[in-house]
Amino acid sequence: MHELHGIKVLVTSGPTKERIDPVRYLSNDSSGKQGHIIAEVLAKAGASVTLISGPVAIPDPEEITMIKVESAEEMLAACLNALPVDIAICAAAVSDFRPKAPFPQKFKKTEESTLILELVKNPDILHCLATHPQLRPKLVIGFAAETEQLLLNAQQKLARKGCDWIMANDVSSANGVFGGEENTVLRVTQHEAEAWPKMSKQKVAERLRDLIIAAL
Ligand code: CTP
Repeated sequence: MHELHGIKVLVTSGPTKERIDPVRYLSNDSSGKQGHIIAEVLAKAGASVTLISGPVAIPDPEEITMIKVESAEEMLAACLNALPVDIAICAAAVSDFRPKAPFPQKFKKTEESTLILELVKNPDILHCLATHPQLRPKLVIGFAAETEQLLLNAQQKLARKGCDWIMANDVSSANGVFGGEENTVLRVTQHEAEAWPKMSKQKVAERLRDLIIAAL
């Protein structure tokens, strides 16, 4: 199956790490499994895939251009550098904030019983790609990690980010999405919302591939 031959795809995956000091950081529980499997499945369908990933503990997919980054700012730079592409899929769990002024040396505690860490907002990579003035990919797909009001939050996110599809999933801790092998997706577009049954992340990637092929 090589339906995606000649199609260039950019996939973001994994968490980002935002440095507090040389030995400490802010991050999240994303394993990168869903993003990596999507990259692999699309490459097997003939696409030319660039996978831009934050630090993960899973193996690099084979035969894929892999760009490893740490922070959200690095991930954005790598994404913009990978343009133009036909399709962008943002599966990374990008840290929304980063420390405003990371300590250049290991931070030493003082007598104070509290520490206030000032954070600044990170760039929104999905939004930057979806609203790119010259090089917007034909199809821009985002994910939405939600713990409540899945449909409403996904619809609002779709509009706010300017993307074409949102793959929303419930990441409340009981659900085991972060790090798990399965995912339950609600796919939201401007015109429809489609609840997928619980399935493996591999099957999610294959179903997404089929929809992408149909959409192209
Ligand atoms: N995303 C991104 N850059 C960011 C934040 C998020 O590219 N700085 C992308 C994610 O890769 C995902 C989508 O935006 O495709 C939604 O991510 P999510 O964490 O669910 O939403 P947020 O934008 O962080 O909004 P909130 O935390 O308020 O739900």
